[in-house]
Amino acid sequence: MIHVALLGYGTVGSGVAEIIEKNCKELSERCSDEVEVKYILDLRDFPGDPNENKVVHDISIIENDPEIDIAVEAMGGIGKAYEFTKALLSRSVSVCTSNKAVVAEYGVELLKIAKENHCSYLFEASVGGGIPILRPLKDCLGAERIEGITGILNGTTNYMLTKMDEEGCEYDAVLKEAQAKGYAEQNPEADVCGHDACRKIAILSSLAMGKTVNYKNVHTEGITNIGKNDFEYAKKLNCSIKLLGLSRDIDGKCLAIVAPFMVSKDSPLYGVRGVFNGIMVKGNMVGDTLFYGQGAGKLATASAIVSDIVECANNKGKTIECPWKDEDVEFVPDEKKKFEYFIRVKREDLNKISECIGVKDTVSIDSLNDEIGVVSEKVSEVKFYEMKNRFEGSIVNFVRFL
Ligand code: HSE
Repeated sequence: MIHVALLGYGTVGSGVAEIIEKNCKELSERCSDEVEVKYILDLRDFPGDPNENKVVHDISIIENDPEIDIAVEAMGGIGKAYEFTKALLSRSVSVCTSNKAVVAEYGVELLKIAKENHCSYLFEASVGGGIPILRPLKDCLGAERIEGITGILNGTTNYMLTKMDEEGCEYDAVLKEAQAKGYAEQNPEADVCGHDACRKIAILSSLAMGKTVNYKNVHTEGITNIGKNDFEYAKKLNCSIKLLGLSRDIDGKCLAIVAPFMVSKDSPLYGVRGVFNGIMVKGNMVGDTLFYGQGAGKLATASAIVSDIVECANNKGKTIECPWKDEDVEFVPDEKKKFEYFIRVKREDLNKISECIGVKDTVSIDSLNDEIGVVSEKVSEVKFYEMKNRFEGSIVNFVRFL
């Protein structure tokens, strides 16, 4: 019997229990043993729940039970989640999690503790929910130098941007709707300001580059400035606007950014709509690969966690290696980070802006006759921000091109 402890019995934790129960036959075949939830750690009780008698409120019960092989950290937050994960790994209990905040902040340390204690720290569910991405990245793409990752990594904002694109809604209205449907939190900051996508691209890039890509150093912009008019321009440019997490390996240095991007109809990411996620990974031999699916939700996320449980069960007493060294990656300096920009400028200032930053094309919207949209040449972030600061009052909005 493989005994599992669930830390947290919210949406994801209860999803894990559900999959372990419903797919018990498949799991016992794949693990060559039965998998059973022995404990559920939560502050709450769950009267009437089929697992109510497994609920405990004290982590030491789990820590001190030698039968526990694997724990699922589905508590959310950082403090206790990190503390309990560390304590369990130190006792040779493997931990599987969807908690990207803990992985992005402490992943490399927890991997080291797992290795020292002959167990594993796995976090397939922390990026892309149910999409298989981390294991394919480290195993199936193991022959590759990963040149770039470009992902729609946040379902909430992709839902909002898709609505704005397809139905011409304004940001505030679409946010309210996303909250009413339970996609966006009452405090939506983590999603709409890009923090969630930032942690996910940091985790992906750390695995791809083999060194820590510190999420704190990833330039992050959210979607709060994106409005209906930006989509009018995007349509004229045969694009949609998507919040992307993007990273590139440029001669061993990392270029990483989270921001809204103009995504052309030619890109496979253009068709990733609603709450879905899509992640393109480019290897130097295989070329482009695309991973697509539900990036959030109870059973999708829980499915990725249970796949990690299967991995741990089949590697008892061993550490599943992760190519993420305890060494900080070097970032590409801003002078070398180059993008083409779409910039909405006051019409009367077009000439002085064109003189400062090369303009390839312009686009107009009839109802917005005091401004004009320009497509810039490829320029560095330094040059762009110099221009932006110089002509602050002339710039209505901007979005980079993918
Ligand atoms: N808030 C996240 C999203 C949940 O919308 O994608 C999954 O990490």
